[in-house]
Amino acid sequence: GPCVKAHLKTIPPLCVHYVTFCLIQVKRFLEPFRLSQKTLQDISSRLTQDMIKGLGRHSHHKAPVKMLPTFVRATPDGTEKGDFLALDLGGTNFRVLHVRVNEDEKSVLKMDSEICAIPQEIMTGTGEQLFDHIAACLGTFLEKQGLKEQVLPLGFTFSFPCEQKEIDKSILIRWTKGFNCSGVEGRDVVQLLKEAVRRQGDYEIGTVAMVNDTVGTMMSCGYRDQSCEIGMIIGTGTNACYMEEMCNVKRVEGEGGRMCINTEWGGFGDDGSLRDIQTQFDLEVDRSSINPGVHIFEKMISGMYLGEIVRLLLVKMTEDKILFSGKVSEKLRTSGAFLTKFISEIEHGSFQRILSDLGLQWSTADLRAVHLICDTVSSRSAQLCAAALAAVANRIRTNRGLDHLDTTVGVDGTVFKKHPTFSAELRSMVHKLAPKCTLKFIVSEDGSGKGAAMVTAVAQRIAAQSHLIDDSDEDELEEN
Ligand code: GLC
Repeated sequence: GPCVKAHLKTIPPLCVHYVTFCLIQVKRFLEPFRLSQKTLQDISSRLTQDMIKGLGRHSHHKAPVKMLPTFVRATPDGTEKGDFLALDLGGTNFRVLHVRVNEDEKSVLKMDSEICAIPQEIMTGTGEQLFDHIAACLGTFLEKQGLKEQVLPLGFTFSFPCEQKEIDKSILIRWTKGFNCSGVEGRDVVQLLKEAVRRQGDYEIGTVAMVNDTVGTMMSCGYRDQSCEIGMIIGTGTNACYMEEMCNVKRVEGEGGRMCINTEWGGFGDDGSLRDIQTQFDLEVDRSSINPGVHIFEKMISGMYLGEIVRLLLVKMTEDKILFSGKVSEKLRTSGAFLTKFISEIEHGSFQRILSDLGLQWSTADLRAVHLICDTVSSRSAQLCAAALAAVANRIRTNRGLDHLDTTVGVDGTVFKKHPTFSAELRSMVHKLAPKCTLKFIVSEDGSGKGAAMVTAVAQRIAAQSHLIDDSDEDELEEN
């Protein structure tokens, strides 16, 4: 077209019309991605209902939002201390860490850490291979650090939905986010880890505490800010946890105090409840994923899928001759070719290289359109997260019978941290959807690593305390 060589700032008048015309068509295409505040409010209420369902003793097994008890009954009180190992599996990388919790300085120090890549064939191989790989990485790390003779307690951040029986017993419900190792679903992950360590045969580990990354994030922020009661991840996947009243956690014995609940909100919509807002592109992303029908909400939001949604939009619009003069490149047709980080880069304003790497030739109108597409897809993600977070915050507020709730959210994840406008958009929408809650956001620094150590430390402190209480209970019984 006439605009091929035009630059953004020097568009001839005729082209202005052409650009506007293209944008109108693009906008029409993007219409299904725009959600009104009313719709978002409605989605927030649906999640509230699903959270109640997930907590119920009898409704739980059919609930798409699993609301998993974590057996984390307390946030840090500042007296935790000691040396810990932490494993972090479930985000972009697998990591091993040595962490020191200093009571005096109220600080969590990362002494050392190492990243071990998990090759694709292990991500979709057998469970035994996966855990052998993990145990081997841990062994190498201990060797290098001169820690092989010590038996340190270990916090295991395992960021997948697990039915936790106790802090050290955790059954994988199902894989998410591109992992799919055979023979692990339905098994106790702690046991699989311990068996693999035994197979290594040349080192030992102490007590193990299992931690979801959301919980680690909440706990690592909790050491700095004791009002941190929500942990949220918007990275490869998305999820949140929060402190729920024990009396509402019907599946765990005991009425007093609170327990952290891992919502697994990524599974919202798995019963079809979000069908009205799923676009044809969401359906396509789901269909071509390794776990169709599962984690529908996550697939509209998180880093594992956003780039793919944009790619499918680009392909379809090009085929419909709205973009790139109707020429779809080979590369653009390849699934996974449009990385989620491109969205951030494009919204930051750097395009040319990304588009030429994708083998595309663009006009000024195309540039505007691509920007708009990225902006629309990432905005929807931020707004959906806001709807979900509003549901969680309102739940805490009503639980406590408060007119107004002030609380802190610990957040982690590449989408939240790297995207130029994501966090601002999320905040402003939560503010609209939950006007009676004032949320402070703390970006967690390495919640999965330090947080795992923190959970282990708190678990040890609580275990020590609850032993005392158990003992005295027994005495009373005997006396009666
Ligand atoms: C997926 C996992 C969940 C995790 C989240 C963020 O949704 O199922 O456990 O917290 O990703 O990593």
